[in-house]
Formats: sequence, C-alpha cells, structure tokens
Amino acid sequence: VSDYTLHKTVVLVGMMGAGKTAVGRALAARLRVPFLDSDAEIESAANMTIPEIFERDGEAFFRSKESQVIGRLLVEEKGILSTGGGAFMTEQNRDMITQRGVSVWLRADLGVLWNRVRHKDTRPLLRTENPFATLRALYDQRVPIYERADLAVSSDGDVSIEDMVERVVKAL
Ligand code: S3P
Repeated sequence: VSDYTLHKTVVLVGMMGAGKTAVGRALAARLRVPFLDSDAEIESAANMTIPEIFERDGEAFFRSKESQVIGRLLVEEKGILSTGGGAFMTEQNRDMITQRGVSVWLRADLGVLWNRVRHKDTRPLLRTENPFATLRALYDQRVPIYERADLAVSSDGDVSIEDMVERVVKAL
C-alpha cells in the first residue's frame, strides 16, 4: 500500500510498552501518512519531559493537557496517532477517539510489557516501590477498557515492528 487514503485517524491505544510509538511511526511511514504522538506534543508544548510535567504539575494537569492535545490532533489532520497508555481510560477521551478515529488496541502480555519498560525511567507512574506490582495493577484495571477499542492486534514477545505494522494494516 502506498499513499493510503485514511478515512479516519488510526489511534493506537494500549499499555506502556505495547509499542504504540514504534509501531505508530513505522505504520505511518508504511502508509505515507502523518505520524502524530500525543505524549510528544505535550512535551514540546510544555518544553518539559513527561516525568517533569508529572513532578511539577501533577497527573491531573497532564491528563487535562492529554485530552486537549488528542482533541486537537483528531480535528487537525488524519494520520496515525499514538497515545499514552492512560489516554483511553476516560469516557470523554474514548468518545472523541471513537467519533473521529478508529481505535486499535496493541495487546501484549504483562510479562512482555514488563520486559520492555523495566529498564527505562521515562514512566512516572512506575516510580513506585514495586514497579512490577504497579504495572500489573494498571494492566488488570485497564485491559477491560482497552477491550472496547474498535480493533485489537497482538504484539507478543518477539514479533518485529514490521510484522506488527502488517498486522495492523490487515486489520484496518
Ligand atoms: C502513561 C503512559 C505514558 C505517558 C504517561 C502516562 C499511562 O505513555 O502518557 O507516563 O498512564 O500509562 P506510554 O504508554 O507511551 O508509555
């Protein structure tokens, strides 16, 4: 597929470590459509990293920026939109995403997610005494909500980014 015509923005949702950013970027290149990333937009608008925003302004502030940015990106242009892991959790965000986009849940097992996030220090929500237990609690809480996405694509342990892109393209 080249110069694919998107009728709606493809919104990637799922847990931290699911590959939303990596798969989203590669998918956008493959379809030759814009790549949009809500976390990156929030960071550049604030001129701060996500951990700095959480630390200085708190999670509630981050969540309100996240809703604003997703709403804006969804009306501005069609493309592949990678969101942060919490973006699909509020009804308001889910409604916006469902109206203007096609939501795709990148599904992965807890152990796979943990292996991808354990060595990074970029996720403020995992800065707890027991980050694995925190990730597991988020996973248990969020999976039933990600299940409401329009489509689900599995990203098991050693699947390559290219394979994930093909899986998403097939699902669309
Ligand atoms: C969050 C996930 C992060 C980022 C923020 C909160 C979450 O994005 O938005 O740290 O609530 O799961 P990634 O899913 O890209 O790590």
